[in-house]
Amino acid sequence: MRDEKTPPAAPLAAVATRPAVVAAGRYDVGIIATLQEMCFDQPWGRDFVARMFAVQGGYSLLLKATTQAGRTPIGFAMCQIVVDEAELLTLGVLPQFRGRGLGRLLVLDCLDRAQDRGVRSMFLEVSERNRPAQRLYQSAGFSIIGRRPKYYREIDGGLTDALNMRCDLQR
Ligand SMILES: CC(C)(COP(=O)(O)OP(=O)(O)OC[C@H]1O[C@@H](n2cnc3c(N)ncnc32)[C@H](O)[C@@H]1OP(=O)(O)O)[C@@H](O)C(=O)NCCC(=O)NCCS
Repeated sequence: MRDEKTPPAAPLAAVATRPAVVAAGRYDVGIIATLQEMCFDQPWGRDFVARMFAVQGGYSLLLKATTQAGRTPIGFAMCQIVVDEAELLTLGVLPQFRGRGLGRLLVLDCLDRAQDRGVRSMFLEVSERNRPAQRLYQSAGFSIIGRRPKYYREIDGGLTDALNMRCDLQR
């Protein structure tokens, strides 16, 4: 049984090899919720993560770094497939590991796994304030296809538009 409360942050110097993306299992719900808390101002909470984990057609990924202490989770993603369309529901990389191409590694892995399951397009929503995420998604092949005005209530109480993005997959 894993200790789900263990903080997943390992010192970067201890990372021996390039982190790898692996499929998450049911027992990883707690660690995904912890990673999400460390990445977002307004995390979902463990119960909602568990609910999203259990949805039909869902798949969740963990990004793991190899350290002297073993393999440590440093990022995550959750997706859902309905027929031939997928949605990227949530994604994060721990702050101290950002800007090294790891978010991109996760997004590309989400897309690969969707393509393997016959998906034609992946969709997502991102706050118009979240420039790093928008640039990450654009560099991974997503384009803006729409906008939902005042969709997110930010932590400062302000309302922000959501941008709808889509990535079409090759067949
Ligand atoms: C969004 C997030 C996952 C990016 O992770 P990351 O590991 O830093 O991303 P990468 O290093 O792979 O960056 C890929 C691209 O994203 C863009 N990017 C990443 N961080 C950026 C920043 N701080 N400012 C501007 N662009 C940025 C760049 O275009 C970069 O490509 P480049 O290296 O060719 O310039 C990370 O910032 C995060 O976890 N944020 C909090 C949670 C979140 O907002 N999730 C998305 C919700 S929709």
